Order: sequence, then structure tokens, then C-alpha cells
Amino acid sequence: MKYSEIGTSGVKASRVALGAMRIRGKNGDEAQEIVRTALDGGINFFDTADCYGAGASSRRLGQALKDVGVDRSKIFVQTKFGIYRDPKDDNITRYDFSKDHLVAALDSELKNLQTDYVDFVLLHRPDTLVDLDDLAGAFNELQSSGKVRHFGVSNMNPMQVEMLQSALDQKLEVNQLQFGLGHTGMVQQEMHVNMEDTPSIDHDGGLISYSRLKRMTIQAWSPFQFGFFEGVFIDNPKFPELNEALQSVADAHGVAKNAIAVAWILRHPARMQVLLGSMTPSRLREMMAGADIEITAQEWYDLYVAAGNDLP
Ligand SMILES: NC(=O)c1ccc[n+]([C@@H]2O[C@H](COP(=O)([O-])OP(=O)(O)OC[C@H]3O[C@@H](n4cnc5c(N)ncnc54)[C@H](OP(=O)(O)O)[C@@H]3O)[C@@H](O)[C@H]2O)c1
Repeated sequence: MKYSEIGTSGVKASRVALGAMRIRGKNGDEAQEIVRTALDGGINFFDTADCYGAGASSRRLGQALKDVGVDRSKIFVQTKFGIYRDPKDDNITRYDFSKDHLVAALDSELKNLQTDYVDFVLLHRPDTLVDLDDLAGAFNELQSSGKVRHFGVSNMNPMQVEMLQSALDQKLEVNQLQFGLGHTGMVQQEMHVNMEDTPSIDHDGGLISYSRLKRMTIQAWSPFQFGFFEGVFIDNPKFPELNEALQSVADAHGVAKNAIAVAWILRHPARMQVLLGSMTPSRLREMMAGADIEITAQEWYDLYVAAGNDLP
């Protein structure tokens, strides 16, 4: 396993992390097994969110981390907040960056996770009604109470980050964004600057270059999905060229296609961290192997094109 710094936080995290969104669907024994598999493979970073099953994923993750007996000081736990779900039916009814909501949500996550602090907390999705002074007050309180060590955002463009950052004392270290061979828009747009075709449409405001410039770590979520949770591209007959190219690079490196899909993200010099969502230990082991492989620039471009992109 390779490790690198998250933003400018000083935290040396494994290049792949375990995402706990799907752990709520597992029983206690299965959750322990996946957490143990992750730790054995060198993963020291775990991501969850308060809205995953109304805290169910965080509770399952917290219990599993306790059950396997890991030393809390040797791992990094991250959660996300700012999405409000109606307790009556668990439907998302608003995004909420108010201090009252964020402080209460974080307290509830600490209970769910059975810990006194989280290493990182991210604002999950942009709340357009954010009051910047109120948000700054929330972050200051969370930091000074020792409940949160570092901060970041998710699903935000550079201007949104700039706006929030202007009001905050804490550097935003992370931006969690969908990225992978099934979702390459952030790269595609950079290669179609000043053109008139569809890929030139700017959906994200130059996020990759911005994140490199600001030394913010992009955490790639749903690295194996295409579309918005439409499915997995590996071994999917909808993606014959991509699977052929993945197999060819996998053969060259003596690993599984799952490893190459991870290595493709990690090869980008933006120093992204990959959030693995698999709850199947054998698959997770294949994916983690991708963190130890460095594919060539040509392999990277071949996979990019095989995923359906062009080089104009
Ligand atoms: N910030 C956000 O808005 C946001 C949104 C979504 C997710 N996330 C984060 O990102 C993490 C990962 O997301 P994700 O779970 O969607 O990631 P993922 O790794 O892309 O997908 C995992 C799912 O795909 C299946 N899968 C993966 N590779 C496969 C393969 N080669 N063959 C067959 N099935 C395969 C897994 O099944 P098995 O379990 O059977 O292996 C699992 O159901 C989450 O846990 C969460 O931490 C963040």
C-alpha cells in the first residue's frame, strides 16, 4: 500500500480508502470481515456519512472498527454532513449548513462511530442557502471542541470552494467527487477547451487543475460505477472496448482488472485518493492491489480512450 498526504493536513493516508456507504447492508460478522480485509491490506482511512441509512452505515462501521480491535490513533475516520433527512420517512428534504444542524449531526455521528473525534468532516453537497458566518461559527466550534481535526467538501466546484474558504479559518483539504473510468468528465472537459462539441461543456469549472493548484485532495467516489449508480463497468457488455483494454493492461502487470481501474485513477498527478465501496473481501483485495501499481502514461491514455473518450 502507498500513502500520501491529504491536502496539506499532514495526514498520511492510504491511497485507497474504504467507503462505508454500503456497509449498512452487511451483518456484524460481514462488516468485521471487510474492515479487517481493508486493514490487512494497509488501508488506514475510512469514509462514511451521516445520511447513509440515517447513520446505519456509521454505526456498522464504528462497531466493526471496535470489534476488530484497531487502535483508533492509527486510523483516520472521515464523515460527511449537511444533508437533512426527514426522520418520518428518511427522505432528503433539504441541504443544511446551519450551525445548529451541523453541530448536532456531528455529535450524532460521533455516537454512531463510537469515537470522540473524526479526523475529517466534509460538507456533503452544496447548500445554496448557506450563511457563511454561521458556517464559520460551526467549524470553529467543532475544531475548538476537539471533535473535528480537518475539514473539506464534497461535490463542489472551485467557485463554491472559494466562497466557503473566504469565510473559514480552516483550510478545506478535501473535495470528494465522482471520478473513475466510468465517469471521466473532469478530465474530458480539460481536453476540449474552446471547442464547440458536447465534451467541451464545462460542468465543473476546472476542478482538477484547481484542486492541484490549491493542494486539495480529490477523493474519487464510486470509482467502479458509470452514470449515477447505473451499474459497474467491469465485465459489463456495455463496455467491451474498455474491458478489453483493462484486461490487456492487467495482463501486462499481472493483476486483475479491478486493480487497473484503481491504478488508472491513482496515476493522475492530482494525487487523488480512491474510495472503494466493495463489500466483497476478495474483490477488495484485488482493488487494493491497484495502489501498488504504476501504469505508464500510454496505458493511462489507452484506457481513457477505450472508456469512450477522444483525443481531439
Ligand atoms: N460524496 C458523495 O456524494 C458520495 C456518493 C457516493 C459514494 N460516496 C463514497 O464513495 C464510496 C464508494 O462508492 P461506491 O460504493 O458506489 O463505489 P464502487 O466501488 O464504485 O461500487 C461498489 C459497488 O459496486 C460493486 N462492484 C464494484 N466493483 C465490482 C466488480 N468488479 N464487479 C462486480 N461488482 C462490483 C460492489 O459490489 P460488491 O460489494 O459485491 O463487491 C458494490 O456494490 C462510498 O462508500 C462512499 O464512501 C460518496
